[in-house]
Parts: sequence; structure tokens; C-alpha cells
Amino acid sequence: MLKDNLVNPEEHRLVSKPLFLREFGEQSRGNGFWSQFTFSLRWKVALSFSVLLLIVTALLFLAFLRYEKIFLIQESRKRAQSMARNMVINARDPLLSKDDLRFGPVIESVSQDEGVRFAYLMNHQGEVLYHSDPERTGEVMIQGALPPENGIIQASAPIQVEDVLVGTAVVGLGMEHIDQAMLQTATGLLLPLGLGAGAGVLGIILLAGLHVNRIKRLEGAVQALGAGEELVQVEDNGIDEVGRLSKHFNDMVCQLKTAREQNERNLRETIRALATAVEAKDAYTRGHCERVARISLAIGKRVQPEKMDWSELELSGILHDVGKIGVRAGILGKIGPLTQEEYEGMQHHPDIGAMILSPISSLGTVGLYVRHHHENFDGSGYPAGLKEDEIPMASRIIRLVDSFDAMTTNRPYRHALPKEEAFERISEGRGRQFDPALVDVFFQLEAEGHIENIFEEVKLSDAV
Ligand SMILES: [Fe+2]
Repeated sequence: MLKDNLVNPEEHRLVSKPLFLREFGEQSRGNGFWSQFTFSLRWKVALSFSVLLLIVTALLFLAFLRYEKIFLIQESRKRAQSMARNMVINARDPLLSKDDLRFGPVIESVSQDEGVRFAYLMNHQGEVLYHSDPERTGEVMIQGALPPENGIIQASAPIQVEDVLVGTAVVGLGMEHIDQAMLQTATGLLLPLGLGAGAGVLGIILLAGLHVNRIKRLEGAVQALGAGEELVQVEDNGIDEVGRLSKHFNDMVCQLKTAREQNERNLRETIRALATAVEAKDAYTRGHCERVARISLAIGKRVQPEKMDWSELELSGILHDVGKIGVRAGILGKIGPLTQEEYEGMQHHPDIGAMILSPISSLGTVGLYVRHHHENFDGSGYPAGLKEDEIPMASRIIRLVDSFDAMTTNRPYRHALPKEEAFERISEGRGRQFDPALVDVFFQLEAEGHIENIFEEVKLSDAV
């Protein structure tokens, strides 16, 4: 006997996926909005390359400013040297004539220029003869090197007479204009650089999406495979790692398809063997199982088109009486009514059928449906005495169709009933043996000619 927990109303709803695939598909990965945003590969790649782009942009910006400063300093030094050389030309005569009064105009003509912080003349001994800052006139400078001045670019030019050094002209330029020019440059560059960096980041996000979408397609196919959905190949002809991974995945899908087809063939052959065994044991079931399966399928599609696994319903119809293999042949073929003991023996066939099918895991809940195909809607059936919604829908359908087909075919204990009488008995059993809703659907199908068509297709001549 099967355990009672086999009858679980929560499991009555027919589903298509094997259990292990269902469990796999139900694993939660916490894919909330923020986790997608934070952890998706696209954003990781985009963030990494964006940071890299911003760092490179900032370094280029700083390098440009650095080289601009060097360039401006060199230009300022050239200017200072040019001014010092001009001072030499104007100061040579006053220096030779030692006319101190003429030093002032020479120095002032230079120091009035823009950016000049100071200018002075000194003799060959380093004594400042005239300084634009009167307080520094008379200072003695170190020979051979100009004293450093913070923030000032200095240049000097020797005053020579017949290759003899008689003095030096010195000009000092402030660096304020350089700082100002660099500030203007930086300000002017910020907008285009910002726009460029923004466009770069946008481009990186788009490109990252382009590449990552290939991985996402592959991920979707793997996920569908794991969830037991249709086996779909991934279109990716890339020659990189993702392309190769997609190719391996497609090869795997091909192998799985082949294996699945082989499994389905094996299952069909197993079912055919079982059905043959039942027919060999009980010749009256020839054609009966096929008709039960097909009419049940027609009713199922009309009742629960979104919820049923049609293959499980069909298989349940074909195999519903497989348990008769375990019933004594004398009972099955007995002409005339059964004794109480024989009747009780006959009632074991749903349980025997469920036990026969239970090792075949790929049959899913077919065993459950087979076990309950003799339950009555009012709870008076067997083996568990379930009623109404406690009975799996597939079992309720088979209960109805099995009864109708049995009535309309020859049996050892009686001849086939006329269909009108069978319809009458079905109506009498509405709400008692049979689910009222299913009886209504059955009569709808009958009115539309579907039942007759199925009887025509599965010839009654199959039955003995
Ligand atoms: Fe049965």
C-alpha cells in the first residue's frame, strides 16, 4: 500500500517539471533592484572602466597644465633675457662713463613693463649700482649666481667691453601672469573635458551592455535549462571566451535534447510494455485505455487549460488500470457478478498500479492519479475515500471517462449498454460518483461530437 501522504491536495495541481528541476528553478538569488544595479556585471565593467577613464582624464589634465607651466616659464625667461640684453645696450655707456644719473632712466624704462618685479645693474664686483627698489641699491650680490627670489623668474646679461666683464644687467619677472594663464586654461578645459568624460562614461556603459548582453543571453539560456524549460540554443558567433562558452553550451543542449528524446522513447516503450501487459491480462481493456486517455485529454483541456500537464493526464488515462496486472486472472475474466472477496481483491488494483509506477520517477504524479481513479466525488469510492477537491483533478476526469467507456463496451459480466443509457447513468452519478463540473464538460463535448469522433478513431473492434 502506498503511504497516505501520497494523497496531498496541495500536489493535485499538475505540473510539467520534474521535482529536482522545480527545486532548482525555485532557488532565490535575491535579484532586487539594487542588487541588480550594484552587482550586475554590466555595472561592474562600466564602473571599472569609467573610473579608469576619469583617472586618465585627470592625469592628462594635470600633465597638460604642468607642461603649459613649463612652457610659460620658458617663454617668460626668454622675455626676461631679452629685456636684460636691451638693458645692456642702454647701460653700457653710462657704466663706462660712470654716469650714475643715467642708470635711473635705463632701469625705469624696463621696470615699467608689465610683469617686471625688479631690474637692476651691478658692476663686475657684484655691487648693485642701481636697483628699481631704491632700498636695495648698494647690496652686494654673489658673483656667478643670481640670488633666488620666490615666485620670480630672473634673467641676466653680461655687460662686456672687449671681452672684459664690467657689469651685469638683471631683470626679474613675476609669475602671477603664469598662474593666471593656467587658471584660465584650467577653467576653459573643465567644460570640454567634463563633457568628454561624460560622453566616455556613457559610451562605456553602452559598450559594457553590448558585451554583457551576450553573457546575459547565455545566462538566460542556462537559467531556462536549470528551470526545466525548453532547451534553447544561444546565438553567438563570437570567437572570444563568451563565443566559445556559448558553443559549448549549445553542444550541451544538443546532447541534452538527444538524451531527452531517448528518455522519452524509453518511457514510451516502457508504457507500451505495461499497456501490453494489461491487455494480455484483461483482453476487455483493448482500446479502452486509449479512449480513456483521449477523452480525458479533451476534458482536461476544456477544464484547466493553463494548469495541466497534458502528457501526465494522457499517461494516467493509458495506465489507469495497470494495477490489474496484480489481480488474479480469474477475477478479471469472470463471467457474472464478483463475490465480496473477489470484489475486494479487484479494489486493490489502483494501489497496485501506483506501486508499479512509483519507481519510474519520470512519470511524476501519474502514479498518484492512477491510485485515485476509483474515488467517488461524494467520498464513497476507494482506496482512500477522498471526496471533491481532495481527489486530484486528473483522477476525477479518469473516473468519469473510465466509467462511461466501461458501460459502452462489452464486459465479461454484461454486454455493452446503449450510449443513451450510459449517458443517463452518467447523469445519475453527477455529484455522487462524478464531479458535476466534469459531467457538464463531458456532455458539452458529446454535444459537439468529440466523444463520438474519438470512439470512431479508436475502433470498437479493438475490444473483444
Ligand atoms: Fe480501474
